[in-house]
Amino acid sequence: MLIRDAVPEDWPRIWPFWHRIVAAAETYAWDPGTDEPAARALWMSPAKRVYVAEDPTGTVTGSAYLTANYGGPAARVANAGFMVDPARTGEGIGRALADHVLTEAARHGYRAMVFNAVVETNPAVRLWTSLGFTILATIPDAFEHPHHGLVGLHIMHKSLV
Ligand SMILES: CC(C)(COP(=O)(O)OP(=O)(O)OC[C@H]1O[C@@H](n2cnc3c(N)ncnc32)[C@H](O)[C@@H]1OP(=O)(O)O)[C@@H](O)C(=O)NCCC(=O)NCCS
Repeated sequence: MLIRDAVPEDWPRIWPFWHRIVAAAETYAWDPGTDEPAARALWMSPAKRVYVAEDPTGTVTGSAYLTANYGGPAARVANAGFMVDPARTGEGIGRALADHVLTEAARHGYRAMVFNAVVETNPAVRLWTSLGFTILATIPDAFEHPHHGLVGLHIMHKSLV
């Protein structure tokens, strides 16, 4: 597996799984009806560093972004987002992307990483915990999950220093 910086030409290969994940409305607090131009503006924003995972056949299997979570004097706290093609879940792509993004975050001078809204039913919580993130707080009943009803959103944090 190769993890590299994304280029604009990667977007058409990210969009199909991006759309599938956001439309499912199980993991991201984004409008499930987000259309392609809005999704592109959100994910491929110039304010973000964007990465893709590519398998040996050149297929883009996942993507992640890294950005500042706050501004000004708090701009050294990072935020990141991760999406792996649901057809490729469980192959270690998400963990590899996360390792890469954490290394990149430290390299770019971030002192910590925060996830603002991790759906408490998301199996990803276990992945983030295994990487050293802790749950700082949970916003109760914040997310209307299509199968689980109202569930909490975790704010998760990891120090990078
Ligand atoms: C979360 C996500 C990025 C994980 O990527 P992945 O490639 O499936 O994860 P990996 O194969 O690297 O697995 C990482 C670990 O998490 C666990 N895990 C991750 N997603 C899981 C899932 N959907 N079901 C069960 N276990 C899961 C695995 O058990 C694995 O543990 P291990 O490394 O000790 O074996 C991916 O499932 C995804 O894009 N989900 C939808 C979007 C999302 O939830 N993004 C994160 C928002 S906080």
